[in-house]
Amino acid sequence: MKISLIQFEPQLGNIQANIDAIAHLLDESESHLYVLPELANSGYNFDSKEQAFNYSESVDNSIFLDYLKAEAINRNTFFVTGFCERDDDKLYNSSVLIGPNGIIGIYRKLHLFLNEKDIFEPGDKGLPVFDTPLGKIGMLICFDWMFPEAWRHLALKGAQIIAHPSNLVLPYCQKVMPSYSLINRCFIATCNRIGTEKNLTFTGQSVIADINGDVLVEGTMDKSQLISADIDLSLALNKSITNRNNAFEDRRTDVYGNLNSMLDD
Ligand code: ACM
Repeated sequence: MKISLIQFEPQLGNIQANIDAIAHLLDESESHLYVLPELANSGYNFDSKEQAFNYSESVDNSIFLDYLKAEAINRNTFFVTGFCERDDDKLYNSSVLIGPNGIIGIYRKLHLFLNEKDIFEPGDKGLPVFDTPLGKIGMLICFDWMFPEAWRHLALKGAQIIAHPSNLVLPYCQKVMPSYSLINRCFIATCNRIGTEKNLTFTGQSVIADINGDVLVEGTMDKSQLISADIDLSLALNKSITNRNNAFEDRRTDVYGNLNSMLDD
């Protein structure tokens, strides 16, 4: 299958400009799965919770998601997008998985970064993995990268690919992310944004890594672009790393415990 990352510069509070930027890049590749950045509908660096509220949408009433749902039908494809989500009086920094039949699932960011703590509620939907015709898809958002438990949890639940919408400002994630691919023997697709919003400059360099931790494709630091790779998700079903070593079966959970008690959500 072909996967594409749509690296662009979301405009704060301008949903139509963000749709137009995505539409402009979408035609460059016919892909089975497209991944967009964190908060792709709204932009990132809000002045206040009130401003974020004004720029948010609910999942059931969203111009932005309606656009992606229509494209998923027209192109018979899947999207993972970051989404500034309103749910009654609460805001979540969310990621939405969309397919030709509509919304498949939502993940809400667990680990909030800097001022996000003043704006968003921490995620309350656990770490779901969604079974799709493409394969099993998990999602994390940006600063979740810092927590290896989250990647491991999704991999243990069977995620063959982890889509990772991001608005990265620190220079570390792109370094560590291929290692998470390698140790979990799954694909990871980090789609980062570019540009500057007030005091924050985002670092681009979106990346797709394979089960060996090899970087298949990497974006620039500062250009809007679509980057793609052909991947075989079935490779992520095999956790062996030698004929006598298996990344999951060889774990010494008797010594350091395991995450299995949390795998039911
Ligand atoms: C981040 O979590 N947006 C850095």
